[in-house]
Amino acid sequence: MSAPAVTSEGQGIATRLLRSAAKRSYDPDVDIDWDAPLVEGAHWMPEHRVSLYGTPLWERLTAEQRIELGKHEACSVASVGLWFETLLMQRLLKDFYAGDPTTERSQCALTEVADECRHSQMFARLVARAGVEPYGAVPAVHQLGKLFSVINWGPAAYASILVAEEVLDRLQREQANDESIQPLMRQVNRIHIVEEARHVAFARDEVTRGLAALSRTELAYQRFICALTSYFVVRSLINPKVYAAVGIDPAEGRRAALANPHHREMIRFGGEKILAFLDEAGMIAGPGRALWTKSFLLER
Ligand SMILES: [Fe+2]
Ligand SMILES: [Fe+2]
Repeated sequence: MSAPAVTSEGQGIATRLLRSAAKRSYDPDVDIDWDAPLVEGAHWMPEHRVSLYGTPLWERLTAEQRIELGKHEACSVASVGLWFETLLMQRLLKDFYAGDPTTERSQCALTEVADECRHSQMFARLVARAGVEPYGAVPAVHQLGKLFSVINWGPAAYASILVAEEVLDRLQREQANDESIQPLMRQVNRIHIVEEARHVAFARDEVTRGLAALSRTELAYQRFICALTSYFVVRSLINPKVYAAVGIDPAEGRRAALANPHHREMIRFGGEKILAFLDEAGMIAGPGRALWTKSFLLER
């Protein structure tokens, strides 16, 4: 597929984003005090966002176990975040490889790779500091990830990137403003929020431009592959192994979470803004629609 033409508006977005990157970028090595002691008894995510919140399994947990489960879930989300950032970097590098490296759009793509490199280091370091296993996606999905930049390109790639980025962003904004959350977690979130705003603007433009250039067959393929990728991303956020950290059987915890209205609401809340955008852009249609609802991003 040939790359859709860049409009002057698209070029304007690239110029603006490059300026923003030059002015507001963080280095987690110096902008985070990794040696600061962790705050005893602080939460790692708001309780109502923990996947088992409100279930009979939750009722059986002590206050300490609830915090512990929240910590493992927050770290699962961070490690899945860096997994998907790695896949996104592959896509961006392929686009850079295929294009004219001197254009501002290409420079933008490369700047985003630089941002994501720092984010992935930051998330990995957060997980290590929390003393939690870097769960990532379950092994089968981790393997499937190798296909991401092969079967995903153009609007489908950028739309599924948007789903991952915006779901994370919405939850991080909530945590950044919550004083009961571990300060280290809040600082990581603040840095990510600022830099992701640029990525979201870039990806939205890629989706809009890309969709306008598709044939009907390409559009059907792109819609489905985007729904499929988004489904796997969202389902991967909480690795079932987290439940073992508080003595719950992973399969039982997983079943309870997927049936939990609070957990479903968390996913829907995370995807609310981006689904509205993708729906308006014409991305949510066809056989993939069932996957959007199965992922809980879209209400029935
Ligand atoms: Fe990121
Ligand atoms: Fe990003």
